[in-house]
Amino acid sequence: MSINKLGLIGGGNIGGVLFAEAAKRRLAKRIGFMDIKPPDLAKGKALDIAEGAPTISTDIHYDAGKEFNVLEGSEIVINTAGVPRTKRPDGTIPTREELLQTNIKITKSVAEGIQKYCPDATIISIANPLDAIVYTLYKILQTPKNKLMGMAGQLDSGRYRYFVAQEAGVSVENVEALVLGGHGDNMVPIRSCCRVGGMPVEKFVSKEALDAIETRTRKAGGEVVGLMGIGSAFVSPAWAALDMAEAIIYDKNKIIATCALLEGEYGVNGLFVGVPAILNKEGVAKVIEADLNSAEKEALAKSVAGVRNTCDEVEAMLKTM
Ligand code: APR
Repeated sequence: MSINKLGLIGGGNIGGVLFAEAAKRRLAKRIGFMDIKPPDLAKGKALDIAEGAPTISTDIHYDAGKEFNVLEGSEIVINTAGVPRTKRPDGTIPTREELLQTNIKITKSVAEGIQKYCPDATIISIANPLDAIVYTLYKILQTPKNKLMGMAGQLDSGRYRYFVAQEAGVSVENVEALVLGGHGDNMVPIRSCCRVGGMPVEKFVSKEALDAIETRTRKAGGEVVGLMGIGSAFVSPAWAALDMAEAIIYDKNKIIATCALLEGEYGVNGLFVGVPAILNKEGVAKVIEADLNSAEKEALAKSVAGVRNTCDEVEAMLKTM
């Protein structure tokens, strides 16, 4: 089972991994791959990967180029168009929110491209600031809420799982974790939902170690930016988005932390925020309300307030564009 066409917007670091992995996993009969970068980044990367296809015994069919028409007919689109965070010469690391000014303009052209060539596609967006860029797409496209989502929680939960597994000395496969809220430094790792081999995480990891793990999780994206020096994490975000795409393509009914439109859930209305959701062929089939303790509720409210501020900025910026 695969879809007819997967569209990938942005052919940079994340986009390149998405193309290679999607081809290797045979997720779609055809891939549309678009990037504005001259002379023709998308075409070049696609050709490189296609020339490797015989070695991995995969047939690859694609349309690649600098124009949005290569996306025509895409059933699912993954959007990575936008500048990433990168370490400044003085060693400091910008917040994701500082990317908004640049990335909102890019997102406007992405929305226009989707509108023209694949208006019915289900959209998974990765560009930052994550929650605000998904909101921007929604404002412009008015996509039905089940067909528009952001990838963040799956990555943030993966980071939490990795750190817990290392500390507990067990396989990552044994660790279940959930990180909710906005994809910023106020994201909310939900300790009460973290299980190791089905047992509460506190049985394996001390409170102090968990405090440190949760702080590290909130800043994990920045840690990678600081170490790499140029750009931000790109393999783990690509894998996380493909996990979401596979849940949709294979109609898995898989619960994944997803940036989804809330209409009353968690007391939030009209914002896209990271929450557990069931993903299947409909896209976001259902948002699940996790039982949170009062400290977690408070932390989530703080994170949502941050998302609301950035979305207010989006509203103001869209009026001037
Ligand atoms: N249309 C299509 N592609 C665009 C556009 C546009 N209007 N504007 C920029 N791009 C492309 C760039 O040419 C670049 O190749 O988006 C690509 C982004 O790739 P990278 O700079 O390598 O960034 P990447 O690491 O892939 O991250 C992309 O996802 O995680 C977020 O913060 C990250 O916002 C960033 C995005």
